[in-house]
Amino acid sequence: MAISTRIADMMAGSSFIRKMFETGAKLKAQYGADNVYDFSLGNPNVKPISDFSADLHRIIDEDQVGKHGYMPNAGYPWVRAAVAEYVSEEQKMKIDEGCVIMTCGAGGGMNIALKSILNPGDKVLVSSPCFMEYKFYADNHGGQLEIIPSAEGFDLDIDAFEKSIDASVAAVIINSPNNPSGKIYSEENLKDFSLMLDRASTRTGRSIYLLCDEPYRKIVFDGAEVPAVFPLYRNTIVVTSYSKDLSIPGERIGYAAINPGADDFENLINAMILCNRILGFVNAPALMQRVVAGLQGRSVDIEAYRRKRDLLCDGLSDIGYKLEKPKGTFYLFLEVPGGDDLSFVDLLQEERVLVVPGSGFAMPGYFRISYCVDDSVIINSMNGFRTAFDKIK
Ligand SMILES: Cc1ncc(COP(=O)(O)O)c(C=O)c1O
Repeated sequence: MAISTRIADMMAGSSFIRKMFETGAKLKAQYGADNVYDFSLGNPNVKPISDFSADLHRIIDEDQVGKHGYMPNAGYPWVRAAVAEYVSEEQKMKIDEGCVIMTCGAGGGMNIALKSILNPGDKVLVSSPCFMEYKFYADNHGGQLEIIPSAEGFDLDIDAFEKSIDASVAAVIINSPNNPSGKIYSEENLKDFSLMLDRASTRTGRSIYLLCDEPYRKIVFDGAEVPAVFPLYRNTIVVTSYSKDLSIPGERIGYAAINPGADDFENLINAMILCNRILGFVNAPALMQRVVAGLQGRSVDIEAYRRKRDLLCDGLSDIGYKLEKPKGTFYLFLEVPGGDDLSFVDLLQEERVLVVPGSGFAMPGYFRISYCVDDSVIINSMNGFRTAFDKIK
């Protein structure tokens, strides 16, 4: 075999995602894209704000020497300063540009953090259900992802985490608002979690870094707020991007912010800056850094996602699906009628409705609907959802 056995195994392990893509493409070719209701991808469909395009045009036209050149690997200092000012407000703790690294999206940020922290064989813990790319991100740097089942209502199960932590645990990932569940962890749950991490770090004699992956922080509804994590736990790295809240995932722009009180702070930030370089990112895209600097705190029309959520949830509830309206993200994660997610997803496919089984997020028995689609897709899919539901009843 020409490719590495490790990568071949990973490809085989994610084959059902490939199969889903292939089935989707086949259905679209057969019935026309308008007659296939594709809820499988988290690709934002709400238009970027007009200031994004205006700023982009203005910046492209600016006459500036070296504007397409290399820069410090952490990003432009003035862009980092603008981000730091915003993060200070969001995280309720004053930080400066020396705590911020501009990254190629949240995916890039997670990888530079994990590469900086992990020794071969180290473990990274995360609660289920979870974004399964974390498994690959940990593996990229010699680590191993361990998934801890969540408590009631997708809360973090403090006891289960505490029991699973030994000296091999280097990092814990939390993702709130969560992909796929839409869950926002409460301040109380996060406080208890932070206290547990402090106890575990003392017990194992190792600093456990908390990686908060927050690309959906601004996509929240009904007045919900995402608690700040910096004041709760010093060894925190917040990783995020503008992919979802500005609808620009293809532009690959985000940042990592490190709590200034983190253990070994200077080494940690310098390691992450080095990793930005040696993973081949070198630095986050120059043009996009300039654009997002002026758009701190801005987002697309979140009300549009709220409307889509309600349209979807109300329609499915009327059919008889059991669900709770999520407070964040553009995902709905709900129990599969009949309990078998893989066969229910097949049933929906027969109705040309594409969703992702919970098994793809380490939580069988559920499925994820990504509702960042046109309202018409939601409305027109309801017959298919009803037919599949009636077949199981
Ligand atoms: C939970 C989570 N983290 C990270 C990412 C990666 O996002 P980015 O485009 O910023 O790399 C995604 C993308 O879907 C995600 O859902």
